[in-house]
This record gives sequence, C-alpha cells and structure tokens, in this order.
Amino acid sequence: MGGSSATVTLNGNQVSCPVRSGSVGPDVIDIRKLYAQTGAFTFDPGFTSTASCDSAITYIDGDEGVLLHRGYPIGQLAEHSSFMEVSYLLLNGELPSKDVLDKFSGTISRHTMLHEQLATFYRGFRRDAHPMAIMCGVVGALSAFYHDSTDITDPHQRMVASHRLIAKMPTIAAMAYKYSVGQPFLYPRNDLSYTGNFLRMTFGVPAEDYYVNPVVERALDRIFILHADHEQNASTSTVRLAGSSGANPFACIAAGIACLWGPAHGGANEAALNMLREIGTPDRIPHYIERAKNKDDPFRLMGFGHRVYKNYDPRATVMQSTVREVFEALNVSDPVFEVALQLEHMALNDPYFIEKKLFPNVDFYSGVILSAIGFPTTMFTALFALARTVGWVAQWNEMISDPEQKIGRPRQLYTGPAQRDYVPVDKR
Ligand code: SDX
Repeated sequence: MGGSSATVTLNGNQVSCPVRSGSVGPDVIDIRKLYAQTGAFTFDPGFTSTASCDSAITYIDGDEGVLLHRGYPIGQLAEHSSFMEVSYLLLNGELPSKDVLDKFSGTISRHTMLHEQLATFYRGFRRDAHPMAIMCGVVGALSAFYHDSTDITDPHQRMVASHRLIAKMPTIAAMAYKYSVGQPFLYPRNDLSYTGNFLRMTFGVPAEDYYVNPVVERALDRIFILHADHEQNASTSTVRLAGSSGANPFACIAAGIACLWGPAHGGANEAALNMLREIGTPDRIPHYIERAKNKDDPFRLMGFGHRVYKNYDPRATVMQSTVREVFEALNVSDPVFEVALQLEHMALNDPYFIEKKLFPNVDFYSGVILSAIGFPTTMFTALFALARTVGWVAQWNEMISDPEQKIGRPRQLYTGPAQRDYVPVDKR
C-alpha cells in the first residue's frame, strides 16, 4: 500500500511523484506538485487516464464488468434492494436497519411536495418543451424557494437539501410529463412508495383512482437502482466541479442535469430507442452496423460502448431480463425488442465491436422497458436524471465534506498567438 513513487524526467530534472493505492482498483500517481517542480502540466483532455478525486461511494472494474455501490454488487442490489434503500446506502455508506429505512423513506415522502409557486414555472414553457429543458429550469429555480438549505457549510442544511432534491425530482419530472400532455398535475401521496407515487403522479388522473401495478412498480424501482450512481461520469464530474466553487446544491444538480442531457451520456437512452425504431426490422440491421463502423459516417450505435466498461455493462444484463418481466406483466410485446436482441448479437460477433470492446451499456435496453410502461422517449433522460440525483448529491456531499477540497481549475496547452501589439483599424 503506497510508499512507491513514479519518476518524471523532464529537461534533465528528475521529479518523484508519490503513488497512492485505493482499497481496490488502479493505483494513482499523485502529480499535484508536478507543475511547481517541472513547469509542465499533464495533458488528458477526455480524462481517460485521470482520477479527479478519491471516493468511497462507487467502484467500477470496466474490464470485468463489475459495479459496486459501497461494496455491494449492482446485481445483488437490483435483485434484493429498493431504490430508497440504495439511496440511503449511497448517502450514508451502510445498509440501514428496517427502522432506519422506514424513517428515511418517511422523511423523503414528506419532502415530495413542491412550493406551489413552482407550478407556475411550467406555464412559461411551450407544451412541447423537452422535459430536460424543464428539469434544468425548475431544479435550478429550487434555490430561489428553499433558502433554508443552501448554506453548504452547514451539514444539517446539506442533508435537508439532499433529501429535498431526491424527494422532489419525481414530482418535477411527473409535472413535466403532465404539462406536455395537457393534463392537470397530481399532488404526491405519502401512502405510496417512492416509485409508486411517481407512477401515479405521471399516469394517474383526478377523475379516478390509479392502480399501481406492482410488477411495473418493482421494474421501475429496479431501473432507478441501475441509474443511481456511476463513479465520476461526466454529469457527476459536472456536479463536483460546480460544487467546488461553493455553488448551492440546487444549482449544482441543475448543472448535472444539463450535462446528462447529451446523447453521448444520459441522452443515449432516448437516442437508442429512436435508433431501434428507425432500424425497424432485423433485415435492416447490417446496414446500420456498417454505418456505425464507417469513420466518415457520424452515426454510432446508441446504447453501445462505454468509456470504462470494456466488457458487458452489468446494468444492461439486468435491464434485458427486466424487459421480459414487464412485457409478460403488461401482456405486451414490441418488435423493437427483437431488433435490439439481434442487433446486440450481430454487433458482439463483429470484429469491429470485438476489437474495440464495444458492448451494450445501461441505455441500450432501458428505453424498450420505459416505452412499454407508457413513457414517451422524451421522458427517458428525465427518468435517468430522477434516479441519478441521489448519486449526484452523495458525491457532492462527499466532496464538500472533504477537508482538502478546493475549487476545480484545470489548466491548458495554449496553441494561440504569442503576445502581439494592437493594430489600429486604419493600419490593418
Ligand atoms: C452513459 O461515464 C459513465 O459512467 C456514463 C454512464 C453513467 O451511468 O453515468 O454509464 C451513462 O453515458 C452510458 C453511455 C451512453 N452513450 C452512448 O451509448 C452513446 C454511444 N456511445 C459512444 O458515443 C461512446 O461509446 C461513448 C461516448 C459512450 C464512450 O466514448 P469514448 O470512451 O470516448 O470512446 P471513443 O469515442 O474514443 O471510442 C473508442 C472507439 C472509437 O473508434 P476509433 O476512433 O478508436 O477508431 O470506439 C468507437 C469510436 O469511434 N466507438 C463506437 C461506438 N462507441 C465507440 N463505434 C460505433 N458505435 C459506438 N457506439
């Protein structure tokens, strides 16, 4: 453990950088003093070889396809746990007793209502506004309504803000859907589970009671577990960077939502289902696989590939089996699932995908399930943001609580003009 070092030789200088080991996974070379000792920066634009922090929340082994939350494998959590229990685990580090879990769930339930003024925000959007545009706006605006939980130096206020964010995301997302279909908003109900409450706020109407299908409730709760946290992905890194300046938690989570929206990240679930529908039938798959392999074609297989997983994303495994469960429970089928299965099979047997270690990721099958449950594709990334909020706030709390925490401020390799004098316009 530790003790070893890495030597950098530059312009005749030899600099020794300490090597640190974690509990599992790759060691890190601590280069914090490298610039002061050598006058040179390291260069890693996509952060492909850079650890931005130390963290005890989530561990991924991309080669083995392993995902652990506080040490517990995602497959075991998906099978035995609940999103509320995983939320407690991510925030606090240990699995709760039943009493502690019931208390936590009760606390979250009592924060699910929104300040009534926030409902008027929705009226400012067009009915066809993308739900992620609404999520960015409304979540950022929470900081204007909950001033009693924006002091990040107060652990109690940090905890209240964390609970508020986890609790209110389903309400905000459901309201975005209701607004898009011109139906009235439904208030949360504390007698329903976290996920059951979301289903009712989304698909229920005031004219009649809403029946929460337990199979759908369990499947969606499992999907939330699969999306809860994922180490230092782009949106989590965005939340950490925003938080490093001391910005309030609502603003930080709004920044994370904005980053997640991109099709290379959380927007891939919407893009993946659109792609599967565009392919339409298995006989058209070879054409799209060839397009994905063509360097001159910007098309990529959405829901495929990953910066870290060079093996099957363990979340995709659970997602695929959940498709069958939901189809059976709802007595539905969708030809797009057959297209997805055959696309996966053909890609995984194609040298291009094998050589580049491209496998289905969490976004490849999720849209098939969400569509079967009744969500429009535009809601898919909003659901990803709903679930990832607990990971974002857990990582944000971990960063803010770190006594060594400082503002994130990367440097650059400058490639612009050297200093030159201003030329008056009549001399140009
Ligand atoms: C998520 O980081 C996380 O943890 C994210 C996430 C989370 O839970 O937070 O797991 C959620 O964002 C999952 C990923 C969702 N995105 C997609 O499904 C979009 C499609 N995938 C690609 O855009 C891509 O695979 C990325 C963005 C996911 C990863 O890109 P990298 O790590 O920068 O890899 P790369 O672009 O350098 O690709 C390596 C090679 C390239 O070929 P070469 O330049 O080496 O010849 O593989 C090729 C790429 O062209 N490639 C693909 C491909 N993905 C990569 N070719 C075709 N189809 C693809 N999907």
